[in-house]
Amino acid sequence: MVNAMAHEAGRPPEPAPPRAPEPAGRVLGTEDATPLEFWVGVGDGTFLQLDDVVACERALPGREAVQLFGVVCQVRARHEGARFDSDVFLIEEGVLPAQVSEAAQVLTTRFEPEVFVPPLPGAEVRRAEGAERDRALFFDGMAKRLPAGLSRDDEPLYVNLEFVDGTRGAHVNISGISGVATKTTYATFLLHSLFASGVLGTDALNAKALIFNVKGEDLLWLDHDNTVLDDAGRDRYHRLGLPAAAFRSVGFWAPPRLDDPTASPDVSQRPLGVTSFFWTLEEFCRDELLRFLFADAEDDRQQYTIVIANVEARLKEAVPAGEGAVSIDGHTVRTFGALVELISTKVEDEDDRTSWAGRSIGQGTVNAFVRRLHAARRHVERLIRADVPHADRHRVTTDGHQVTVVDLHNLNDRAKRFVVGVTIRREFDRKERQGSPRPLLFLVLDELNKYAPRDGSSPIKEILLDVAERGRSLGIILVGAQQTASEVERRIIANSAIRVVGRLDAAEAGRDEYGFLPPIQRQRSTILKPGTMILSQPELPIPLVVQFPFPAWATRASEADLSGGPVGAGSPGRRAPGVGTRASGADEDPFAGLPR
Ligand SMILES: Nc1ncnc2c1ncn2[C@@H]1O[C@H](COP(=O)(O)OP(=O)(O)OP(=O)(O)O)[C@@H](O)[C@H]1O
Ligand SMILES: [Mg+2]
Repeated sequence: MVNAMAHEAGRPPEPAPPRAPEPAGRVLGTEDATPLEFWVGVGDGTFLQLDDVVACERALPGREAVQLFGVVCQVRARHEGARFDSDVFLIEEGVLPAQVSEAAQVLTTRFEPEVFVPPLPGAEVRRAEGAERDRALFFDGMAKRLPAGLSRDDEPLYVNLEFVDGTRGAHVNISGISGVATKTTYATFLLHSLFASGVLGTDALNAKALIFNVKGEDLLWLDHDNTVLDDAGRDRYHRLGLPAAAFRSVGFWAPPRLDDPTASPDVSQRPLGVTSFFWTLEEFCRDELLRFLFADAEDDRQQYTIVIANVEARLKEAVPAGEGAVSIDGHTVRTFGALVELISTKVEDEDDRTSWAGRSIGQGTVNAFVRRLHAARRHVERLIRADVPHADRHRVTTDGHQVTVVDLHNLNDRAKRFVVGVTIRREFDRKERQGSPRPLLFLVLDELNKYAPRDGSSPIKEILLDVAERGRSLGIILVGAQQTASEVERRIIANSAIRVVGRLDAAEAGRDEYGFLPPIQRQRSTILKPGTMILSQPELPIPLVVQFPFPAWATRASEADLSGGPVGAGSPGRRAPGVGTRASGADEDPFAGLPR
């Protein structure tokens, strides 16, 4: 399989040594064998471990034999002949006769042909390897296989790309507790696999990813090799047919520093190659962005939606006054603070009130709106402005690089929602105008519960629902993550063809959202280690336990190989566009040299 992938990716295939299938044991007759699960007595001198893939046959009268495939989901060992707990000591001393018996429970994955009969007690069970393993896990029918990680015995495991790229399904959803579930790292690993495995074929050339960085500066080093990755880690990438290397083409965007008139990017660890982003007042008014400032649960309960719509309509009439500023009723506005003042005056003014706030809107509603607007001011004034030259260079775009990272970690929740909402809407509108699902856009969004909570509605939730429901045909693939799927809008989870969990909290693992996990895997999800995930895909009746290698890209400054600069940058004279250029972007074009 590695060979097939390597071939696809243009690497020379390595010959695999042929191996006879290993007998593992026989189907037990003391436990019920059913078409869905059965027990295997493990033979002497061998063992079966969790996640091993096995195969066996069942002869049928007058028809061809059925081949059954399955995955080991539980293994147990016991003394046969022992009745009391204390017997174990007597047996070990040779006083009592008893035998150790080991058995493995198998959940079936596939029948060939599809005659759903149980295997018969006594039938020989063997480890499925090579082509047989591919059949057991449906990899043989996958025209495009996305490497998703390794099994416990270091064999590659795949996801059918057709359920990722929109052909038959789309979207990936990842859950798990903070810090150990490796959600963010797995999302970036999947991107690496998508872009570097060759599975996207020529689509990879133009496919893009937009990632929001929500925690620390973790994702601001994607373009640097990870110095912590050892040879064993590198080998695991090679087994997957993937290069053990950082991302080659990454654009980094961060909010401007608070109170900095030059709008330099607010990052502390990475001094180079980051451009600050903001929206001009002109864009804010023209594109009706006000609603994205009122996007949390509290706003949903308020009556001022109508006020927001009316104010947006008035702002849309604002006249551009150059360099991103606007003129409203003869007043030129250059800062968000000034705009807030102007809006407050208008909605409270006797004459303007009807057209700005709306007819028969109570004073209480207007006051609530004004209060919220003022509360937002401090947090978003650095993001909406017209006081910096060359504002067009500070507009987040996915054009220049394969991967675009938008840093949010220094922003408060209201500002985060604004940035996420506005950026995704832009990309959504752009894709809608494009009218073709290619090139693909992968949208990586952590903390989905914050943007699309289960209850209530908000403009951001609406846009994410649009992505979940229509993204498949538009070529926008959502790779969403959250600590608890139970707090995220159901339709977003339901539309994700690929579901992944890392370590789950025991209470969370019991919830309906994880109904795709068989009970034994739910239990197992509570003890998963970093780097191990349980992945469910539509074609396989049971989820696979996958291990993915330690990131080959740095996830913090201390891991970054700074000696050669970012990968893809080459010598200083051959810098990748936008990488390693001046930080502020205010006086140097980060996209200089790129086709416009
Ligand atoms: N394949 C791996 N094997 C072992 N450790 C890993 C692996 N991938 C990531 N880690 C480590 O696990 C830690 C947590 O990873 P990550 O940030 O992806 O978790 P998370 O689930 O996104 O957490 P949070 O909810 O806090 O954002 C990181 O410090 C990372 O170095
Ligand atoms: Mg994370």
